[in-house]
Amino acid sequence: MDFIDLPQLTAAGGSVRLPGSKSISNRALLLAALAEGVTEIHGLLASDDTARMLEALDTLGVGVTDRGDGRLNVAGCAGRFAVRQAELFLGNAGTAFRSLTATLALADGDYVLKGVPRMHERPIGDLVDALRQLGAEIEYLENDGFPPLRLQAARIVPGGVVKIRGDVSSQFLTGLLLALPLTGAETTVEVEGELISRPYVEITLNLMARFGVRVARKGWQTFTVPAGARYVTPGVLRVEGDASSASYFLALGAIGATAANPVRVEGVGRDSIQGDVRFAEALQAMGAVIETGDDWISASAPAGGLTGITLDCNHIPDAAMTLAVAAIFARGKTTLTHIASWRVKETDRIAAMATELGKLGVRVEEGGDWLAITPPDAEHPLRPAIIDTYDDHRMAMCFSLASASVPLRINDPACTAKTFPDYFTRFERLVTPAPVIAIDGPTASGKGTVSARVADALGFHYLDSGALYRLTALAASNKGVSWEDEAAVAEVAARLEVQFSAGNVYLEGKEVSAAMRTEAVSAGASKVAALPAVRAALLFRQRAFHRAPGLVGDGRDMGSVVFPQAKLKIFLTASAAVRAERRYQQLLARGAQADRAAILADLQARDARDSQRPVAPLRQEADALLLDTDHLGIDEATRQVLDWFGAKT
Ligand code: DC
Repeated sequence: MDFIDLPQLTAAGGSVRLPGSKSISNRALLLAALAEGVTEIHGLLASDDTARMLEALDTLGVGVTDRGDGRLNVAGCAGRFAVRQAELFLGNAGTAFRSLTATLALADGDYVLKGVPRMHERPIGDLVDALRQLGAEIEYLENDGFPPLRLQAARIVPGGVVKIRGDVSSQFLTGLLLALPLTGAETTVEVEGELISRPYVEITLNLMARFGVRVARKGWQTFTVPAGARYVTPGVLRVEGDASSASYFLALGAIGATAANPVRVEGVGRDSIQGDVRFAEALQAMGAVIETGDDWISASAPAGGLTGITLDCNHIPDAAMTLAVAAIFARGKTTLTHIASWRVKETDRIAAMATELGKLGVRVEEGGDWLAITPPDAEHPLRPAIIDTYDDHRMAMCFSLASASVPLRINDPACTAKTFPDYFTRFERLVTPAPVIAIDGPTASGKGTVSARVADALGFHYLDSGALYRLTALAASNKGVSWEDEAAVAEVAARLEVQFSAGNVYLEGKEVSAAMRTEAVSAGASKVAALPAVRAALLFRQRAFHRAPGLVGDGRDMGSVVFPQAKLKIFLTASAAVRAERRYQQLLARGAQADRAAILADLQARDARDSQRPVAPLRQEADALLLDTDHLGIDEATRQVLDWFGAKT
């Protein structure tokens, strides 16, 4: 599936167990691999980034046994990999790339490290410069300062002082620190410039200590790895839930959950060693109601809604992305500062965030290292949009939150596999979408009138999906495009400029309510509706009507294709004779000429085309209720639908 369509949701609440922390998982794997003894790791994250690290360790000859039940055994190599020559492919896993670069540069072998094209655009020069001070031989295979790299066996000069820059990525310092015990000598690392993202370095120091190596530090400037340091397995290591992944659910709770049924994440809490747990404080500053236990956190919305904040995000660089989307639900502007590192992540996250929020109609300002978000208002409402994710898991996860105020499509949702493969399944379990009543049936059955009345009675939105096929046919014929030319008609459908307002329909600004109902356009609609590319092009346009407080959709495939999760599905029909008679009377009432037999023949031909086409044929779905209006008036049929809906809610 290359997109996921999210309806507007009306509520959120419930508990979710988090996947393992990416930062802890990849550090723990490398430390276990370098240690003496076997380490049993519990709760390791199963994702692309950890898969790349596991493959790399396998290539290097480290024995890893998956015991099932979420447990892995890693047989440590005591600082010396069995395989001394290898080429490693590390995808876009920054944590794996940086830490393996440092480790293998000091490991007395010949290695090539590569990644996906984006990995080759992410800087690594600061780490390479630091490793060269120890005598490491590192060659840039393409561009200076960037992967891919060749690391060769070299005479490492142990000990002394190594200088490293800390203001581009903290992963450089992390990689260096993890690798230094391989030299056996006391080494002092001096950070030049400001050290960003410190909490990640804390995770590194914490885990190194669990494997027996205590790093002495002076402030955040100087770190000393002692002489004779060596990693020894702690036996069992439990990976906490991922605090960055928790941010999406906590924000969801802060936007849409009540105090009685908050959103609760399990797997991180008060005892966490991950800096991103402090994301909860940022939400609190926006007014969210947060509660914290040893290994859980819950969030719900404050009575008056969230308030915009200005926040230095240096301590929560990843989770801060979630704030950018939460900001559209706040009163007042939100400004996120100190986020320069966003520009060198999976994508340029400042630019990506600004572009995609902009598609929703959000006003965004960006600077080199900051982003400001002004929430929507009556003059600047949000609009449904198709969101691109730039192969960045966090973009996909962040934007799911926007569905609390507008339906949207998220392209390539599978990119969450980097850190959270089943994110959208878990998200959907916590939310209540706006209800849909799907009313399908043949032409002239009265479903249009019934649907509009039901929508009116409930205060719901109304989608006349047939109108979109009619408008496509009309627009195609206006542009001289043949109704048989599938690609060209699909293009017309994709660019359709329509507006539904107060019972009128406008095509490219022109009122077309009557023009789209002529017999010729009806015949054209039935033809273009049989083209799969046209149906695909109109899919999101229809789902964009799926808004709070609810929707009544009328058509042929509302219940089967467009809204398969509809709360109530109805197949509203009448015999061909009855429908032909209704149309005949309608035409007479308008003073038009009409021929009963011709109307019946035309209607039967259209029924046949709608029900025999291979894509989305007209038929009663197994889960749709039959409403036969042969002997029912509009009022009675409307009442029946409302009764059925009432019984479901
Ligand atoms: O409901 P209507 O008569 O306005 O629909 C016009 C045409 O569009 C009709 O031939 C069936 C087709 N249609 C469709 O294929 N799928 C829908 N969801 C709605 C209409």
